[in-house]
Amino acid sequence: MIYRPYDSERDEKAVIRIWQECGWPDLKKSKKNRVAFRDWVSCGTADVVEFRGEAESLVTSHPGSITMLDTALSFQAVTSVTVGRPMRRMGGAGELTAMVVSRAAEEGFAVSGLGIFDQGFYDKLGFGNFPYSRTVTVDPLTLIVPELKRPPIRLTKKDISRMIENTSSRFNHHGLVKIPPEGFMRLMVEQSDDCFGLGFEDNDGRLSHHLWAKSNGPHGPYEVWWMVYRDYEGLIELLSLIRNLGDQVNSFKFREPWGIQIQDLVKRPFRTRDISTGGEFATSVSAESTKQARILNMGKVLSALRLPAGKIRFNLDMIDPIEDFLPVGSAWRGLGGEWIVTLDEESSGAVRGSDGELPVMRTSVNALTRLVFGAATPRWLSATGEIQAPADLVCRLDEVLRLPVPDMVQIF
Ligand SMILES: CC(C)(COP(=O)(O)OP(=O)(O)OC[C@H]1O[C@@H](n2cnc3c(N)ncnc32)[C@H](O)[C@@H]1OP(=O)(O)O)[C@@H](O)C(=O)NCCC(=O)NCCS
Repeated sequence: MIYRPYDSERDEKAVIRIWQECGWPDLKKSKKNRVAFRDWVSCGTADVVEFRGEAESLVTSHPGSITMLDTALSFQAVTSVTVGRPMRRMGGAGELTAMVVSRAAEEGFAVSGLGIFDQGFYDKLGFGNFPYSRTVTVDPLTLIVPELKRPPIRLTKKDISRMIENTSSRFNHHGLVKIPPEGFMRLMVEQSDDCFGLGFEDNDGRLSHHLWAKSNGPHGPYEVWWMVYRDYEGLIELLSLIRNLGDQVNSFKFREPWGIQIQDLVKRPFRTRDISTGGEFATSVSAESTKQARILNMGKVLSALRLPAGKIRFNLDMIDPIEDFLPVGSAWRGLGGEWIVTLDEESSGAVRGSDGELPVMRTSVNALTRLVFGAATPRWLSATGEIQAPADLVCRLDEVLRLPVPDMVQIF
């Protein structure tokens, strides 16, 4: 197996076949899909494993940021990992992904993250689960939101640049991931002819908030692929817009936005659910953890962690499982080893070494990432054995690490 950068002229045909074998967007189907794919790849990095003279695995990544409290940290999004059928379970995907992640670490990225196909595979590279995200299906007529005061404007594929521009001012929150939207949004917009957009403009004609959705027949369920808004007022107007379509559309499915509970805005939620269960338009709330992240640079991540509840110092004895997957020549060997960690009001930090006066925490980079982002509590990580530390230290961490829910949201 040879690991090398993707070369579009040489590898595109093989990569189209890999994606087809994975059941991913069929790039053969239309020229527009292929153009969108090329745009998407060119916004980031792409590497392949060559096997029997052809590309049989592709790993892509895109650069961006992740919000840690109020700081934007540099973020590598691992945006696709795919292997053709003949090369499955030969170890190439894991090693190629480790190589791509280690390169980002060498380049100084603070955090890497991805969406998972299932739990376990990326854990071996040091990634840890982020919290559940919720998908809700609602009957629009049950939404308790203000009447729509103005008609929305219609958006089509031709408005893609305006929609992309709108994402630059989107609502910010802990855990929000931003990567250059150009490639992604174009790729998604080209995926279906049943999609439509609706939105609202500022006085200067720029989009202030909008949604993009797939219709699935005259009565739905309509699937919202994204809602972009700057503030909760904009979100509520989008929900009013959804309600406005309720005379025709029986249900809308969407990812619950950060920091809200849609049930607050639903009339008789349990009655509606009970009556609709089992039907095509059943209302529901489902939750899954589909995103994982890992720290690449301890100093950068910890310095963004400002904790008003006080100062705390400890030794960290850390395992980084990515080490076993790294190529021999990789200068970056992961984050395993001994660290002295300081969590503070002003700025926290981590330096290599140990201090005999301080208590020791033993853990993995997977669990530490979850801990410092607030994806899992110290006491829970201790109870499950993911961190091992004296009870006093765990209790103190529980007092200090009072963080908002980190929601990585849609990756663009
Ligand atoms: C996911 C995918 C890339 C893995 O490819 P692969 O060739 O099997 O990967 P590797 O050979 O590097 O790794 C296989 C190892 O991972 C293990 N593995 C796979 N899924 C796992 C999981 N969820 N938990 C733990 N281990 C897992 C396998 O058991 C195997 O272990 P072994 O080396 O001890 O035998 C491949 O199945 C694929 O292309 N799937 C379709 C596209 C897709 O879903 N991509 C992921 C997007 S997030």
